[in-house]
Amino acid sequence: MAKRDLSYVCQSCGAVYARWQGKCDACGGWNTVAEETNVAATVPAAQRARSKGRPVQLETLHGEAKPAPRMISGIGELDRVAGGGFVPGSIVLLGGDPGIGKSTLLVQASAALANAGHRVIYVSGEEAVDQVRMRASRLGLAQAQVALAAETNTENILATFAAGKAVQFVVIDSIQTLWSDSVESAPGTVTQVRTSAQLLVRYAKQSGAAVILVGHVTKDGQIAGPRVVEHMVDAVFSFEGDGANQFRILRAQKNRFGPTDEIGVFEMTGAGLSQVPNPSELFLSHRDAGAPGTAVFAGMEGTRPLLMEIQALVAPSSLGTPRRAVVGWDSARLAMVLAVLDARCGVRLGGHDVYLNVAGGLRISEPAADIAVAAALVSSLTGAPLPSDAVFFGEVSLTGAVRQVSQAAARLKEAAKLGFNKVVMPALGDGTSNGLEVDTVTSLAGLVAGIAARA
Ligand code: TYD
Ligand code: MG
Repeated sequence: MAKRDLSYVCQSCGAVYARWQGKCDACGGWNTVAEETNVAATVPAAQRARSKGRPVQLETLHGEAKPAPRMISGIGELDRVAGGGFVPGSIVLLGGDPGIGKSTLLVQASAALANAGHRVIYVSGEEAVDQVRMRASRLGLAQAQVALAAETNTENILATFAAGKAVQFVVIDSIQTLWSDSVESAPGTVTQVRTSAQLLVRYAKQSGAAVILVGHVTKDGQIAGPRVVEHMVDAVFSFEGDGANQFRILRAQKNRFGPTDEIGVFEMTGAGLSQVPNPSELFLSHRDAGAPGTAVFAGMEGTRPLLMEIQALVAPSSLGTPRRAVVGWDSARLAMVLAVLDARCGVRLGGHDVYLNVAGGLRISEPAADIAVAAALVSSLTGAPLPSDAVFFGEVSLTGAVRQVSQAAARLKEAAKLGFNKVVMPALGDGTSNGLEVDTVTSLAGLVAGIAARA
């Protein structure tokens, strides 16, 4: 008989304890540990019978590797993040805040793939069939040949897939609503989520269908449920954006079949998500050119250049410890830039509140934004606007030197395409500037002096 006892599992990270405790030692979450019935995970009897110490066929590294075939939805921004389309037999986890548009995106993807001739099943555990239909008709996709089901039992779902013709693309919305007969915990608990995910991973590998799991995100941005689900799947995508603006960014956090630094940009409209093929134009469209404290950063997202506006506000503080508020950038990186400005350039902001914002709800992780941030800060402090036809990029080192960054050519090309005339960057090297006037900065102090001269 399977050993059955109780264990206490953190619902946020999956850590297991012998007794209940108020705080999870592993992830630091409060009140996240819940009682679950413990069922020893076993390999199914049929599988055990087949593998009686049988040697496996060994292969060589130099053999022929077939490129993964792809199912192309035709929604270019989605296909690119997937690495050029969805791979049959792969499983993808799509996370995002509630209401961000996950279901909308997947209904659109399902319809597109069905229209391309693939057999698609959309399983909703959160909404009734009627609700999904209503959304589809609002999106103008009611005619697509997508099979629908509203079901939360994993065994029933798998039996449905097995019943008809071979399925090629499956959406499960969402993994947190599923429950399996084989475990006794409530739906949404770590054990249930993990067991259902395991069953679906096995289904994807055996059947060759591409399976997309929707996952909820907790308050602090983690995909709810055990991190083990992220390890089990082939790819993890996150769908980001804030409710207040209509941009949505699809980002690959892990992808066994493609790059992880690609993003897809969408706009939420009355008729669903529409693609934004040229995001730089959109992110700069409401720019307050000529105001002090804004700088345009020529960034890269994966292989794609993206221009974005960085806004800074520096104001005298009435607080003992001045405020540092950052949206869209790393606050530790801001602290570093402020320290270098102070120590190497004599720009003292210790008595000032500093606010930094990346316009449009974007999030930058590149150190190449350092000099754009520094320029925006100094411009706000001195009140001297930066030239509105200039872009900035370059990394600042702790010594105050400005370092080269990668892919300068692509950044310059994008800036030229969007009508910018100047670039402030470290040495150009032997590349072409695409007709832009190059303002070389080798040190942060040189940049600060240049801006101060404009005041
Ligand atoms: P939804 O896809 O249900 O989000 P999720 O599955 O991530 O929870 O999207 C819901 C939001 O999108 C909702 O607030 C309404 C908005 N929306 C539009 O603005 N236009 C549309 O055409 C659709 C279908 C939704
Ligand atoms: Mg939804």
